[in-house]
Amino acid sequence: MTKRVAILISGGGSNMMSLVEDMTGDHPARPVLVLSNSAEAAGLEKARARGIVTAVVDHRPFGSNRAAFEDALTTVLDQARPDIICLAGFMRVLTDRFVLRWQGKMLNIHPSLLPKYKGLHTHRRAIEAGDTEAGCSVHEVTAELDGGRVLGQARVAIQPGDTSEALADRVLPLEHQLYPMVLRRFAEGIRTRIDLP
Ligand code: GRF
Repeated sequence: MTKRVAILISGGGSNMMSLVEDMTGDHPARPVLVLSNSAEAAGLEKARARGIVTAVVDHRPFGSNRAAFEDALTTVLDQARPDIICLAGFMRVLTDRFVLRWQGKMLNIHPSLLPKYKGLHTHRRAIEAGDTEAGCSVHEVTAELDGGRVLGQARVAIQPGDTSEALADRVLPLEHQLYPMVLRRFAEGIRTRIDLP
């Protein structure tokens, strides 16, 4: 049975596109929805151009009422009936209640070598710490922010004089390689991790 995948984005959607472009042919899954918390997210137009159903649930009208925002998200998600949810540059922190609702079905891409540098500004923190390498991780989403089981990692050397922008430019292509590989395995029921290269 082909797995149904919903992808949540907040911005450009380059990771979303790498997932969508890989879900063809003998891939065990297909994208059924691209959902954003921002109508301005450039990724929405890219998804529409691919004929994928899109939706927007703007978080701003809900103010600090996260539960109400997430109930609106869940209403849209329930209509799409996803087997898997991929967070791809989705920049809202989800509550335990929402995560429990979709536990075991939700993946996220994070631009660091977890468990190092959970949260924001990951590349700057790796450089400031004097690390010799950085990278990205795909993990299962749990109630602990960026804390779930890591299912894949890709790493790159940090060069002398690197800026966080330069590092991000070298890590993002790895994200576009790693996330589709992990999603395919996840859709096939494989829960062991892969490391690139
Ligand atoms: C990526 O670096 C991702 O790891 C992070 O946000 C960025 C989103 O990029 N969470 P895009 O929207 O997928 O292009």
